Amino acid sequence: MSITNAKAAAWDRLGGDYWNRGYDGGPGPAACAQYLDGVTPGARVLLVGASTVALARAALDAGAELVVADFSPVLLAALDRLLPGRARHVLADVTDTGTALAGGTVLAGGTVLAGGTVLDGGTGFDGGFDLVLADRLVNRFVRAELVRALRTLAGAVRVGGRARLSYRLGLYERDHVVLAEAARRGELDAVFDEAAYDVDYAPAAAWLGAVLSRHGDIPTEALVAFYVGRGREHRLRPGELDDLVVEATPAGRRFATAHPRVPGQPDDHLLELTRLA
Ligand SMILES: C[S@@+](CC[C@H](N)C(=O)[O-])C[C@H]1O[C@@H](n2cnc3c(N)ncnc32)[C@H](O)[C@@H]1O
Repeated sequence: MSITNAKAAAWDRLGGDYWNRGYDGGPGPAACAQYLDGVTPGARVLLVGASTVALARAALDAGAELVVADFSPVLLAALDRLLPGRARHVLADVTDTGTALAGGTVLAGGTVLAGGTVLDGGTGFDGGFDLVLADRLVNRFVRAELVRALRTLAGAVRVGGRARLSYRLGLYERDHVVLAEAARRGELDAVFDEAAYDVDYAPAAAWLGAVLSRHGDIPTEALVAFYVGRGREHRLRPGELDDLVVEATPAGRRFATAHPRVPGQPDDHLLELTRLA
């Protein structure tokens, strides 16, 4: 499978620096425990996001049979170096419904990296996972991507299984800083589409480094390139995810939804989808 999503290049470029240079963006121990509540040895767990190392390690320590999916080969390879041979890896873009979930069931053609093995005869997410996890992944998309990603993630869950996807509501603290500077410069419309409730830092590339706060010791130019490369991202309004889940759910499937708060991370919630049918 080849990845055509331009956002993948931003993650490839930052790569292992995401966690190797003192930046701790992953979920803390209490959040990991919430994600993994009820997991028993042998449970089939899919984690989307190879950068979420703490959660991958916690799932393996709980005895899960872990599959990690990511659209960044660099991050998958870096995770495999940190947890050699312990998880299976699948290169996949969860927003790509060209290959994902044709007919609502199967993601075809997951390319498997060194250390991984082919899933179920070459297919990927087969609707057979007990638990599907993603840490603040849903905040990385525009709305149309988000619907497709929810379809992929929820589609990987078996009947009786769950998806747990953390998310942040509203604008990030960082957005407020960037939008304030854009407004001061008379450039607000370029970085904030208020009607769509989308932010895009790319038009702020020339001055972004001056207002971004540090992430560990990642060089500012690398951070600027990362945010610029991530492009446009939708911010979530209260209640919006429930509507998007309905939009993303294929006919014949049913999910119960809950939105507990994430312990130790006051700004974050967990979208918990339990597959009923
Ligand atoms: C899950 S998000 C959030 C990171 C998390 N809070 C952490 O600290 O690790 C980042 C990860 O998701 C991956 N990712 C982003 N968009 C993706 C997509 N469309 N399909 C698959 N993986 C994606 C990135 O490559 C990265 O490894």
